[in-house]
Amino acid sequence: MKTLIVCYSKFGNTRRVAEAMAEAMGRAGEVRVVGIEQLIAGDWEGVDLVVVGSPTHAFSIPAAVRSALAKQPRGILAGKSVAAFDTTVRKWPFRRLRASPKLLRRLCRLGGTPIAEPETFFVAMHGAPAAGGTDLLEADQIDRARQWAAKLLNPSGGRNE
Ligand SMILES: Cc1cc2nc3c(=O)[nH]c(=O)nc-3n(C[C@H](O)[C@H](O)[C@H](O)COP(=O)(O)O)c2cc1C
Repeated sequence: MKTLIVCYSKFGNTRRVAEAMAEAMGRAGEVRVVGIEQLIAGDWEGVDLVVVGSPTHAFSIPAAVRSALAKQPRGILAGKSVAAFDTTVRKWPFRRLRASPKLLRRLCRLGGTPIAEPETFFVAMHGAPAAGGTDLLEADQIDRARQWAAKLLNPSGGRNE
């Protein structure tokens, strides 16, 4: 099983989630984390599972992620499993105002097969970003990330056993 986690992170929180997932998944196969700005065509080769993560910006996908995905050739994710997550401030509870459902739709449009519902990891806002503040992940979110990663490697969850 070869997994590619593609992430975008302005303040580092989404990257931390991606790295925690990679650590959990690394025990069961090959896994790499790549920043979406550094993504090259060869990164997709031989990959079975693609996970894309980004912060929610303006209730949607950040512009940098949108444009990077728009550059990918049609069908590039055909035959690959896909999943998406975002990091979001908890005070906005509506799923449709988060990046991950939109991310997952884009991955499906590129040919990917979804294997999980979009997932969200929560940050607490610590000061306005414009004023130099950073967003910090809530305390239990790294554990949640590890658990979600394990579920992605076993999407049926043993339901048929
Ligand atoms: C320009 C901008 C717009 C944002 N818009 C939203 C938003 O619409 N909803 C939300 O929950 N959080 C919003 N946030 C907070 C981000 O979700 C938060 O900064 C992010 O999860 C932190 O992840 P990062 O450290 O990987 O950048 C916004 C942050 C920025 C900088």
